[in-house]
Amino acid sequence: MMARPYWVAVALLLLAEVSGFEEGASHPGFVARITRKGLEYARRYGIATLKKELSTIHLPDFSGSTKVSWITSVSYKFYSTLEGTFTVSVDGISISVSLNLGKDQSGRPTVSVAHCSNSIGHVSIDISGHLSWILNFFHKRFENYFKNILEQKICEMIRKSTTSHLEPYLRTLPVILMIDQVAGIDYSLVGAPQVTSQVIDTPFRGEFFGRNWRSPAPFGAPPIRLPEKHDHMVYFAASEYVFNTASRVYHQAGRMNFTIRNQHIPLDSPTHLDTNSFRAIIPQLAKLYPNAELELETSPESAPFLMFTPGNVTFSPVIDLQAFTLLPTSSERKPLFQLRVTTDISATIGVRSSRIVGSVTPGSKLKLELKHSNIHYFRVELMEAILNYYARHTLYPSLNAKLKEGFPLPLPRDTYLNSLELQVHKNFLLLGANLNEAKR
Ligand SMILES: *[C@@H]1O[C@H](CO)[C@@H](O)[C@H](O)[C@H]1NC(C)=O
Ligand SMILES: *[C@@H]1O[C@H](CO)[C@@H](O)[C@H](O)[C@H]1NC(C)=O
Repeated sequence: MMARPYWVAVALLLLAEVSGFEEGASHPGFVARITRKGLEYARRYGIATLKKELSTIHLPDFSGSTKVSWITSVSYKFYSTLEGTFTVSVDGISISVSLNLGKDQSGRPTVSVAHCSNSIGHVSIDISGHLSWILNFFHKRFENYFKNILEQKICEMIRKSTTSHLEPYLRTLPVILMIDQVAGIDYSLVGAPQVTSQVIDTPFRGEFFGRNWRSPAPFGAPPIRLPEKHDHMVYFAASEYVFNTASRVYHQAGRMNFTIRNQHIPLDSPTHLDTNSFRAIIPQLAKLYPNAELELETSPESAPFLMFTPGNVTFSPVIDLQAFTLLPTSSERKPLFQLRVTTDISATIGVRSSRIVGSVTPGSKLKLELKHSNIHYFRVELMEAILNYYARHTLYPSLNAKLKEGFPLPLPRDTYLNSLELQVHKNFLLLGANLNEAKR
């Protein structure tokens, strides 16, 4: 015998433990927004889970019978001579649950049931067996008995399942993630999720830090103004703070320092990094250091900051270049001249496998300016071909290889995104997405 189809309506009310950003608290670097559409998805998922859980509720034995479960056919055995089965079916369960969302000391989300109530429309029992007509006398009494017990059990079960399933699931959100040997990202919550009638916004720190040292960034995250229009279930806003703390960490770790050597320049190039190539323009150089190789050391003056303007991400690094000549007889290098190199670069940001990835394309050629020279005044254009070649063939490809790895979004276990939409707003990147059926 089968259970009759039944329906469950769940009203979910979400509360934040703290409302409004705390006084003096800094802006989050990263915000995850769940829209009404996302909440509807979560509610449907919750109902499906509840239905499964409800079917495992065990009703206490009565009249010394064997254990009975509900909704499916159950066996009964009141006396050794009286055997059969009955089917319990339930119609119209409505449940109202208020959840308290918060964060703990470690920056992980917390959730607890603030309030739960439910009502059951109708319980019916279908009894069959040899002497079912005897039990049918007590029909109404059984039905009320089941109804009362179920009403008690449902909220008990919801509380239990919030503690044993929902909270552990939310706590699979990463707090600290290692990116590579140099950097990690801190995704701890900087406040409780903010609940409004339309959305839940969860504020994350969204800050890169050096794995070998950690010092507070000398700049803060800008305020993020998320658009009101919502076509997707979830939105992720990564402020320029995330990217600029990354830039700071890799800069401090020396990952933006490059040394350009003659071997990096192709054989068919008109200019090579040796003193002979410069003979016509700086005769003194070839005279002082005949047949010597040159080495160019480049490093950004400061960590380059990404600028997010509507539709565009750009940055304009200022690079110091120091040229040395290698001495054939010693390991010493003689400093020759210093240049300042500037350029505009535009970045394209995308999402792949739940990671934010990027790539850069040069927006302009490198502009060179002589800062200091130990040898002689010379025209900096000479260096332009070499540097542009190096940038195109070595620097940008290696930067792009790194950016292609990207960094992960803070997602709980088994969350898959689809229908992605990316927008660049002032100060932040906005990613809209829908959620896939969780494969759990
Ligand atoms: C990068 O190069 C600059 C200039 O030569 C230097 O001052 C800085 O210490 C270097 N950074 C690292 C981490 O090596
Ligand atoms: C964005 O980039 C495009 C192409 O380079 C340019 O035409 C446009 O003016 C830029 N928009 C802003 C707001 O900077």
